[in-house]
Amino acid sequence: MAEIEKVEGYRAGQTFPPSPEFTAQANVRDPHIYDEAAANPEAWWAKRAGELRWTQPWTKICEWNPPHAKWFLGGRLNVADNCLDRHLAGPRRNKAAIIFEGEPGDTRVLTYWDLHREVCKFANVLLSQGVRKGDRVTIYLPMIPEAAIAMLACARIGAVHTVVFGGFSADSLRERIGDSQSKLLITADGGWRRGNVVRLKDAADAAIEGETTIEKVIVYNRMEDPRHVHMEPGRDLWWHRLMEEAGASSEAEPMDSEDPLYILYTSGSTGKPKGILHTTGGYLTGVTATTKDIFDIKEEDVYWCTADVGWVTGHSYVVYGPLANGATVFMYEGAPDWPQRDRFWALIEKYGITILYTAPTAIRAFMKWGTDWPAKHDMSTLRVLGSVGEPINPEAWLWYHRHIGGERCPIVDTWWQTETGAIMITPLPGLSTTKPASASRPFPGIAAEVVDEQGSPLPQGTDQTGILVITRPWPSMLRTLWGDDERYRKVYWSKFEAQGYYFPGDGARRDEDGDYWLLGRVDDIMLVAGHNISTMEVESALVDHPSVAEAAVIGRVHEIKGQAIAAFVTLKEGVTHTSELAGELKSHVAKKIGAISRPDDILFTAELPKTRSGKIMRRLLRDIAEGRALGDTTTLADPSVVASLKEKYSEEG
Ligand code: WT7
Repeated sequence: MAEIEKVEGYRAGQTFPPSPEFTAQANVRDPHIYDEAAANPEAWWAKRAGELRWTQPWTKICEWNPPHAKWFLGGRLNVADNCLDRHLAGPRRNKAAIIFEGEPGDTRVLTYWDLHREVCKFANVLLSQGVRKGDRVTIYLPMIPEAAIAMLACARIGAVHTVVFGGFSADSLRERIGDSQSKLLITADGGWRRGNVVRLKDAADAAIEGETTIEKVIVYNRMEDPRHVHMEPGRDLWWHRLMEEAGASSEAEPMDSEDPLYILYTSGSTGKPKGILHTTGGYLTGVTATTKDIFDIKEEDVYWCTADVGWVTGHSYVVYGPLANGATVFMYEGAPDWPQRDRFWALIEKYGITILYTAPTAIRAFMKWGTDWPAKHDMSTLRVLGSVGEPINPEAWLWYHRHIGGERCPIVDTWWQTETGAIMITPLPGLSTTKPASASRPFPGIAAEVVDEQGSPLPQGTDQTGILVITRPWPSMLRTLWGDDERYRKVYWSKFEAQGYYFPGDGARRDEDGDYWLLGRVDDIMLVAGHNISTMEVESALVDHPSVAEAAVIGRVHEIKGQAIAAFVTLKEGVTHTSELAGELKSHVAKKIGAISRPDDILFTAELPKTRSGKIMRRLLRDIAEGRALGDTTTLADPSVVASLKEKYSEEG
């Protein structure tokens, strides 16, 4: 297991209990809730669902016909009503719902009253354009309040949104529109990224050129002059024009608990993206309860989740979870290093952010840029920190703890997936004694297990790497893959069909205390001379070295050992790459984990190939290391990175 070592001021194996002051004020401080939920998960989830506003009560909590679940059957509610209307009666009506800052520094504040009005008006716009309950609407917007307004307006009338990340190409957009058969597209003329204009409208035009299901395109004017934007007569309509004419009164459609809320596409291990389908009552129950308990949301918090709304984190923890809790959500459009590398810290200081939820890949970038940037800012308002997206290495965890959290903020390392809808494995900040790089344990009401290939539970505390499974249905689980139920069964339920376990595809271990350690995708686990080695464990050892900024490790085919370990390494600024350093890194890993984990190849590179969501594309690294033609590179943030790596590998390798 990854141990803390060599981070000055911390002991190996050190654990981090919450402070008594934090616990005393926490939303959850009674450890008994774990037992209460485990004793009767359905009753517990029903209690959490009861915190929402239902226009008609459910008649049955859960129906489980493996692999299909329904939750809160017969119940009716509306997601937008719960996120907006419900807060208007009391003092929250004039509270900031969204505080926005664009990359160029423009700012806006929408109170709950404002946001409600905008959503009602846009719901009427959608209706006026012929959108009806059950129709699909594709949203392709920058990170601006209109993204949340569009989503909530769909939810209000019962249309199914499918948000496509603004960084995706025209081809990806076309594929998602085609699969979801959307009839309306909502986009903007552009958005800002590192001082450049991302021309969304051009991509949108290309995506619907020729045959398409899209009938109308609504365009939000974010950039300067609307006259420079090509608008297709009869098809394209300006958001602001439509809103001028729209009425502000709107009834929220009472939706069945199992009516679809959204489809969100996520990449599969092969080819075509998977359309994850989430429904209404169970999903909202899951995101509302987890937001409240895990981020310890309070009335006066200013909460910032840095994810784009194009990802599930943006759906569940920028829009639905926090707004259902009546929280103040901060939203930022641009890049963390624009105009300077302290933009995030400047924003935290400026807005008095109290809760920050971001990704390990961002934290490692901040580490690489150095501690001077955060040190320039007063971040004493922060009280809870979150991490999501991939396993966080102990070094990054400790850096986050010390340099961002001032050693006072609990860190919640939250494991979940697009498919799970809501956080599944996580600390509770007022209760859990955290261990750097452990996601702690399943959220109350979630039943998980670590099993072997046959599905038998592995004992706690074993060294063996196991497979994470979820053993009972949960309210916010995906219901199917849009238009492909067969694939849904195959991908998630066929591996442990006999046991009826959900298979997330992640490796895990549980230690003596019952804490879970997520070890990356199961397909990221290497088999070297018959030993299971987690790529993440080797990466963690590498980034633990003072010269290393980031590392990606893959298993490449090796004729004797089965697989050999190849490491792609980026160095901290000012460090030069030498063959001595490569040798030193190999020994360092061998020393940290054992000789068996010693990398065979170390390749220094200025950048790693990443998807736009920041995930390292190990599949491409494997292609490079094994000298194959590169597979699909369309989801890469910067395709030139792999091309130059490939060249370099064949020269040096
Ligand atoms: C995969 C899901 C959940 C929103 C963002 C990603 C990995 C996610 C953690 C974590 C270790 C994590 C898993 C998971 N992952 N969070 N805290 N620790 N691994 O959503 O794109 O659906 O990816 O991300 O491998 O299966 P996603």
